[in-house]
Amino acid sequence: MRLKDIQDIYHKELDELYGKNEVDSFFNLVMEHYLKLDRMHLFMEPEHVVTKTEEQPLFEALNQLKLEQPIQYILGETEFYSLPFKVNEHTLIPRPETEELVALIIDNVTSSAVKKPLKILDIGTGTGCIAISLAKHLIKAQVSAIDVSEGALEIAKQNAELNEVGVAFIQDDILKTCYSAFDAESNYDIIVSNPPYVRNLEKAEIQPNVLNNEPHLALFVDDENPLQFYNAICEFAQLNLKNGGTLYFEINEYLGEEMVELLKAFSFKNVELKKDLFGKDRMIKGVK
Ligand SMILES: C[S@@+](CC[C@H](N)C(=O)[O-])C[C@H]1O[C@@H](n2cnc3c(N)ncnc32)[C@H](O)[C@@H]1O
Repeated sequence: MRLKDIQDIYHKELDELYGKNEVDSFFNLVMEHYLKLDRMHLFMEPEHVVTKTEEQPLFEALNQLKLEQPIQYILGETEFYSLPFKVNEHTLIPRPETEELVALIIDNVTSSAVKKPLKILDIGTGTGCIAISLAKHLIKAQVSAIDVSEGALEIAKQNAELNEVGVAFIQDDILKTCYSAFDAESNYDIIVSNPPYVRNLEKAEIQPNVLNNEPHLALFVDDENPLQFYNAICEFAQLNLKNGGTLYFEINEYLGEEMVELLKAFSFKNVELKKDLFGKDRMIKGVK
């Protein structure tokens, strides 16, 4: 069948669900992933014919897209901070907002007058996207990362290999004060976390493809205790962050003021709330 005819079938079957532009972008991604053909190929060779074997994964992907499975899970990969990352059902799909948090940290570190090697800890690492991007860009940093999910850590380790960086991964539960894994030398210069922060009451705002596919362990917190992870991490940071070290969080856009109060209650100084590209309260930092 001609590649162009398969593209037409994608549009016929999916445009109503996703819109034409998004379907174009899906088709480009599957073409690149399964056939190693870039997006210009369809313009240059509109008559390109693919074999039965070649078309099979394209139609399988189409069926999964019809079931509203995220394209990143279908392909098993995504891009974060211009780096490749494997993803699966155990890991949250990294978001652009989190790239902004990584950019903020890299910017702060590289513009600082202090040039010593840093010890960094990422809590709730998922795919390892934060830890690995930091390790890639801050080459002298010693980076560790924890997650409670064995499945997520398995993928994070593969991602560290894929991106050729060394990150020490630790399986532990931050809510059960995982201090056992950290000895007296665990004095970090930077602790960063994008913990679960979506309240159950916000479920109505979540797209069905997120709700039905991404791990709820990575997303949701109790309505009654939405800052549970932030509290636990602030406590952890009181013991494990160096004096003068910085704590960075990605946060729930609706809880910016509460987060400022929380960091102040834990005596963090120079607390700064930052907005994402969409103008929403999304990041906060504080100095111990
Ligand atoms: C919002 S996801 C963030 C993943 C990744 N850091 C990112 O930014 O895409 C939260 C992560 O916290 C992990 N997590 C959930 N509960 C945890 C706990 N009690 N202790 C440690 N990690 C936990 C989840 O498995 C998930 O990978």
